[in-house]
Amino acid sequence: MDINRYSQINPPQRLLMGPGPINADPRVLRAMSTQLIGQYDPVMTHYMNEVMELYRKIFCTDNYWTMLINGTSRAGIEAILLSAICPGDKVLVPVFGRFGYLLCEIAHRCRAKVNLLETQWGTVFTPDQIEDEIKKIKPKFLLIVHGDTSTTMIQPLKDIGEICKKYHVIFYTDATASIGGNELETDLWGLDAVSAGMQKCLGGPSGTAPITISHQMKEIIRHRKCVEKGIRTVEHKDGDGEIIYSNYFDISMIMDYWGPERLNHHTEATTALFGARECARVILKDGLKKNIARHKLHGDAMLKGIQGMGLKLFGNIEHKMHNILGVIIPKGVNGEQVRKFMLEDFGIEIGTSFGPLHGKIWRIGTMGYNARKDCVLQTLACLEQVLNLVGFPMIPGAAVESALEHYSLENIHV
Ligand SMILES: Cc1ncc(COP(=O)(O)O)c(C=O)c1O
Repeated sequence: MDINRYSQINPPQRLLMGPGPINADPRVLRAMSTQLIGQYDPVMTHYMNEVMELYRKIFCTDNYWTMLINGTSRAGIEAILLSAICPGDKVLVPVFGRFGYLLCEIAHRCRAKVNLLETQWGTVFTPDQIEDEIKKIKPKFLLIVHGDTSTTMIQPLKDIGEICKKYHVIFYTDATASIGGNELETDLWGLDAVSAGMQKCLGGPSGTAPITISHQMKEIIRHRKCVEKGIRTVEHKDGDGEIIYSNYFDISMIMDYWGPERLNHHTEATTALFGARECARVILKDGLKKNIARHKLHGDAMLKGIQGMGLKLFGNIEHKMHNILGVIIPKGVNGEQVRKFMLEDFGIEIGTSFGPLHGKIWRIGTMGYNARKDCVLQTLACLEQVLNLVGFPMIPGAAVESALEHYSLENIHV
């Protein structure tokens, strides 16, 4: 093996304007270049406690059990579903995009009885639709995505918590794509569990999944049977629920590690924790509301710019997330060729799409560190150039002008 064939990692500069990942905030990258310390060093356990405090604010909750799962966003989903669902439990999954099917798939692996409720991509559910289905199915759990990046839609959850409470249903949402850039009120909306990821509006790299669970959800998880008898003593009563078929994702054990007992489980991914802590600190320093408003401002400016160049948007835009936009690829334009030019000539990545939308829409994100005026204007100007190059006629400069007009109406100059 000739080691000299392997150069240092030195990827090209890219502006990531797709559905995530996005460019990480430089402050987060700096935090992640910090030297390691031992996992039971009091400084480290203090940081873990701080992470719990900071993410309670990000999730808008008082839930004590608010912590990180090491792994990408789906690690957070798997940890919650595997730890809560017993084989044979009935779950209802209203699906409005690709990530709803992911919840179904994971629930199947938990041996749940999975009931699907589907709606057309580009739309969301009304509370009545969900209530009717709950009445029919009588599930133990309702599992729903908050913002589905595949369609760019956000499901209003505000009234669903009340419905779940009325029918004694445990309410979980996947907020990977929405958290930090859109309103999410864990306690006010009656959510029992929420999981998230770093690589979208939180402005970090993927690899950590913040989660929060309510007291009721904690009780369900604690009632599972305990395998490591004699080792795990905290609150484990060797309950009546079946064992959790995962060691790594057993939230009971993870709680024992994050809680005051500090019982050994995995070795916390220190560098990822430093990054996650910095993401939350940066957002909360400005204020969560301000961060959400920033995502709305730049998301709307992108939308105006796209409309300004004569392109059409996908789905019911009244229900789109602030941080992402589905753009219909005009007839006669090769969507992949446009993405290639954007990446190779301008260093800008925009997103493709999945399933029924494959080849039909681009997904353009304005999130986290890249929810900025300069990123929006650069992307619009370059996309206009590329579209001209591939023969799609438009009024030169119209996109940037429309976005600038939006900024001037909003009185934003930076
Ligand atoms: C809504 C949603 N859920 C889950 C995931 C899966 O995340 P990860 O790839 O970090 O596991 C994504 C990724 O884009 C997502 O958008």
